[in-house]
Amino acid sequence: MSETANAPGDIIRLAPGSVVMGIESSCDETGVGFVRVTDGAPELLGHALASSADEHARFGGVVPEIASRAHLQALVPTVHRAFDAAGIEQGEVDAIAVTAGPGLAGSLLVGLAAAKAYAAAWEVPLFGVNHLAGHVAADTLEHGPLPKPALALLVSGGHTQLLRVTSLAGDVPDAITELGTTIDDAAGEAYDKVARLLGLGYPGGPVIDTLAATGDPRAVDFPRGLTAAKDDAAHRSDFSFSGLKTAVARHVEALRRDGRAVPVEDICASFQEAVADVLTAKTVRAATDLGIGTVVVAGGVAANGRLRALAGERCAAAGLELRIPRIGLCTDNGAMIAAVGAHVAAVGAVASAPHLGADPGLPVEVVHAA
Ligand code: KG4
Ligand code: ZN
Repeated sequence: MSETANAPGDIIRLAPGSVVMGIESSCDETGVGFVRVTDGAPELLGHALASSADEHARFGGVVPEIASRAHLQALVPTVHRAFDAAGIEQGEVDAIAVTAGPGLAGSLLVGLAAAKAYAAAWEVPLFGVNHLAGHVAADTLEHGPLPKPALALLVSGGHTQLLRVTSLAGDVPDAITELGTTIDDAAGEAYDKVARLLGLGYPGGPVIDTLAATGDPRAVDFPRGLTAAKDDAAHRSDFSFSGLKTAVARHVEALRRDGRAVPVEDICASFQEAVADVLTAKTVRAATDLGIGTVVVAGGVAANGRLRALAGERCAAAGLELRIPRIGLCTDNGAMIAAVGAHVAAVGAVASAPHLGADPGLPVEVVHAA
C-alpha cells in the first residue's frame, strides 16, 4: 500500500492500512512484531520474542558471541511465530523496519541481514531505525500519539536518558533531543550488577523487583547520585548509579565480614528505592522546568513495579500526565521497532540503502538511519 515506487533513495510514504514488520536484535532478545499504519499512532497486530537471557545467566551479563548465535538460530522461527500472533500473511507486509543501533554489533548485524533478505525477497522498502526511539514508540502502540513535545525517561540496560520528544518520525529538526544522561552506569546495568553481587543471576531487574516487594525500602539509606546542590549546575538532568552500586557492594561486604546475615530483600528494596527516587525526582523536575505536561517512562527498567508506582504518585502530585507501556512492551521487542518504522513511513521518508550498516553507538537523535 505504499504510495510511491520502491527503489533505494525514493521517498516512501505508507498509507493508513499498510503493515510494517519490525525486527529487533540489538541485545539478547530476538523480537519480531507487526503494526498497522493508521491516521494516528500505529496499531499493534501481534509480536513474538525469543530470549537468550538464560544462556547468559551464569556469566552475570550478556556475552556478545552467545547473543549473536542465538539471534541467528531464533530469527526465522520468531518471524513465523509473529505472523501467527498477528494473524497476517507474508503478502500483506508493506515495509520492514529493523534496529540499526545502538546495540551489540554482531547482534545488530544478524537482524539487519535478515531484514535486508526479507525486504529484497518480498520487494518492500527497508527502514533502519533507532532502538531508543523504539522504546518510546512502544508507548504509542498502547496510548496513542504523543503530545508535542513530551518528556521521555528512557531507562534500559544500556541507557538512562531524559529526552525531549517532538516527533517519533524524525521528520523535524530536534525531533528527539537529549536533556540528560547517565555519567556512568545505566539504571538497568545497576540492577544487573547488584543482582550479580547478591548472587541473583541475570537479568537482575525482574528478580530484584520481586524480592524488593517483601523488603523494607528504609532499611539502608543508599546514596542518591547527582542530587546534591553542588551537582545542580552541571548535572541537573544527569544520572549516576555507579556510586550506588558500590555502596551496595560495600554494605554487603561489611555484613559478610562481620559474619552477619545478608538481608537480601531489604537490600533489594533499599537499592530499588534509591533508583526509583532519583529517576522520578529528576524527571518530574525536568518536566516542570520545561513546562512539558506529559511524561513517558520507557525501556526495560520501566517494567519495575516501584518505579511505575512512584512515577504515578509524583506525576499526579505535579499535575503531569504519565504514560508507561504495559510491562510486555517495556523490554526489547519487535513491535516497538515496527512502530518507529510506521511513524517514519507514515509521514514519508527515504528508504534505507541495501548497504545500511549496524551502528553500535547510533545517537538517540537519529530516529531513522537512511
Ligand atoms: O530495554 P531492555 O530490555 O534492553 C536494553 O535495551 O538494554 O532493558 C533491559 C534492562 C536489564 O538491565 C534488566 O535488568 C532491566 O531492563 N529490567 C528491569 C526490570 N525488568 C527488566 N529493571 C528493573 N525492574 C524490572 N522489573
Ligand atoms: Zn532496549
